[in-house]
Formats: sequence, C-alpha cells, structure tokens
Amino acid sequence: MKVDGKHIRSIWLEPDGVTVGAIDQRRLPHEFVVARLATCADAAEAIRSMLVRGAPLIGATAAYGMALAMREDGSDAALDRAYATLIATRPTAINLKWALDAMHAVLRPLAPAERVAAAYARAGAIAEDDIAINQGIAHNGLALIEMIKACKKPGERVNVLTHCNAGWLATVDWGTATAPIYLAHDNGIDLHVWVDETRPRNQGASLTAWELGHHGVPHTVIPDNTGGHLMQHGMVDLCIVGTDRVTADGDVCNKIGTYLKALAARDNGVPFYVALPSPTIDFTIRDGILEIPIEQREASEVTHMTGRTDDGRIETVRVVPAGSPVANYGFDVTPSRLVTGLITERGVLKAERGALAAAFPERVVRRQDALRA
Ligand code: MRU
Repeated sequence: MKVDGKHIRSIWLEPDGVTVGAIDQRRLPHEFVVARLATCADAAEAIRSMLVRGAPLIGATAAYGMALAMREDGSDAALDRAYATLIATRPTAINLKWALDAMHAVLRPLAPAERVAAAYARAGAIAEDDIAINQGIAHNGLALIEMIKACKKPGERVNVLTHCNAGWLATVDWGTATAPIYLAHDNGIDLHVWVDETRPRNQGASLTAWELGHHGVPHTVIPDNTGGHLMQHGMVDLCIVGTDRVTADGDVCNKIGTYLKALAARDNGVPFYVALPSPTIDFTIRDGILEIPIEQREASEVTHMTGRTDDGRIETVRVVPAGSPVANYGFDVTPSRLVTGLITERGVLKAERGALAAAFPERVVRRQDALRA
C-alpha cells in the first residue's frame, strides 16, 4: 500500500537478487528504517525479535530465510538445520510452518546445486501469492461492507473495529483485516476504523494507525478496553480482525484481547468477522483452546513502554512497579461460535468444519497423517 504516495511492500528481494529488504517494524511509527537480511540467521532473528511480525509476513520471511540458507550451503543437512532454526522462532502463527513445509517440499527432491534458484523462486511465489490472496479477501470483504452500508447505514459512515495489526505490514501487501477496508476506502465508501491500541506491544496504535494514516483512511485509536462501550452505543457496525491460526473447526487464534472483543460483539449484536488467507488454516487440529500453543513473551513488553518525547528523543520508561510479577500471553482463542464469518480468498465462510473443508479441499489432511508427518 502507500506511504507518502509511494507504493511499498513489507518485504522484497533487493536488486542484487540475493539479500532481502524488510521494514523494521520495531522502529515504527517513529522512524522508517529498512533492514537487510543477508543470512538465514538474519531472517530467523528478524522473526524472533519482531522486526517482522504478523502471520503471513512471518511465513514469507521464513521462506526467504530458507533461500538465504541454501545460498550458504545447499546440502540436506543445511536444509534441515534451516528448517529447525526458522520453525523455532515463534510458536503460534501456523503460516510459519506452512511456508517452511512448502519450501521443503520443493527443495528436498532437488540436487543441492539446484536448490538456490528453486528456493528464491518458491519464496518469491509465496510472497506474490500472499498479495493475490489478500486481494481476494479485499473483494469478498468489500461485499460485506457494502451490504452493511446498504442495509443499516445508507448515506452514513460505516464504523469498523479492528484489533492488533492485520494490515499490510503484517502481510506482504494489502493486509488481511485491512484489505476490505483499503478497497472500500479506495472505492469511495465513507468508512472509519476504530483501532484498538493492542497492549502490550501496541501494534494497533503503532502500526495499524500508521498504515491507515499514510493511506488516508479515517481512523481513531482507542484504548483496548473501549470497544465494548462503543458497541453498546451503536458506534461499531462490524468488527474485522486477523488471525494467526484457524482450526479445522473454525476456532480463531489471534492477538490477546481478540476474544474479549468477540464477546462484546456477540452481546451487542455486532457482526464479528475474521479475515484470513488459507495458509492460516491448520487442518491438523480442531480445538483451538486445547491445541494451539500460545506464545508467552517477555515481561519487559508489559513493564516498559517506548515512545517519542516532545523534543524528539525515543525513550523507554518503566510503567509497572519494580518487583511486580507480570504475565504476558501473546494470543487468545475465540471459539468458532462467536465468529460471524471467515473472510477468505474463496468467499465468506461459516466458521465450521464443513464450510472450511468444502472451500479448501486440497488442504484437508487426515488427523492420522498429520500426526505421522
Ligand atoms: O505478535 P504479532 O504482532 O506477530 O501478532 C500479529 C497478530 O496477531 C495479527 O493480528 C495476526 O498475525 C494477523 S496477521 C494478518
């Protein structure tokens, strides 16, 4: 999408055809800094440190990480090492495993000398596919927004609430939750986005607000606990969030706090949609609460906050008393019963097994096969 009128993606292959460029998301919204990833270790560290983040972008970065690894050493041992290093970076977003498996499936049968070119080609295709998928999500989600506008709000502004950053920064381009928002805005629909700040790392306040602002989409940042109040007062027409993993039965794992928004939406009759690319579906599991590993992150994300002072310095300050214990769960699971629909590249689906399996039959795996793999 656009930054200051210029089109930019979150990740790209540099003109040297080898190194990978990525926006350093740890520096936003205060500084726009581009990082260069030159080794598999660089890619792994970029994911681990959240220089890049968001499920689809984590997958694309891991794919390029495999390509960088093959450049260093194309052997079977190096392939296995790269897979092991990259898969260990973050536990919750399934796109990481999906991308690594896709790379492995292409590379393993090849001779080591053939692997570098094939790896860059497959990684590039994963990045391009992500954009095409998100454009599909944009069109399918746009139809929903148009319907809500026509039925509930003719002539009035549509208010969308989103949580965390499921925008173009979390993908290669367009975003998932934001894809229908950008398309609606570009098509002239009067729409406004409530942006949850998304403590503790503030992906909403720092990233979603930055993206929407640079693209010119009207938005307002709200503290995380404001959504319920807005819904009670008819100030939210629909919620659209992203996700890091959706189970075969339609349970949705996303940034911590998503579940509470889904509860508030249900209590107030507000439609709660989840936008996802098909690589985010994990057909090997059914119960998200029991089966999805939830990342626990360091206490410093909660105890400290970083921001820009009025005189322009970037500073980190403590906001929790020294010595108070902290819990920092990165994600939660919204049961499928609270989800109005899943906005995918193949249509808006019911959050249930039959609908997901019918839309993506090629992705369905038998549980026994998954356990054996
Ligand atoms: O911990 P993060 O910043 O990687 O978590 C990101 C989210 O939860 C996103 O909302 C999710 O990955 C959806 S991405 C399109």
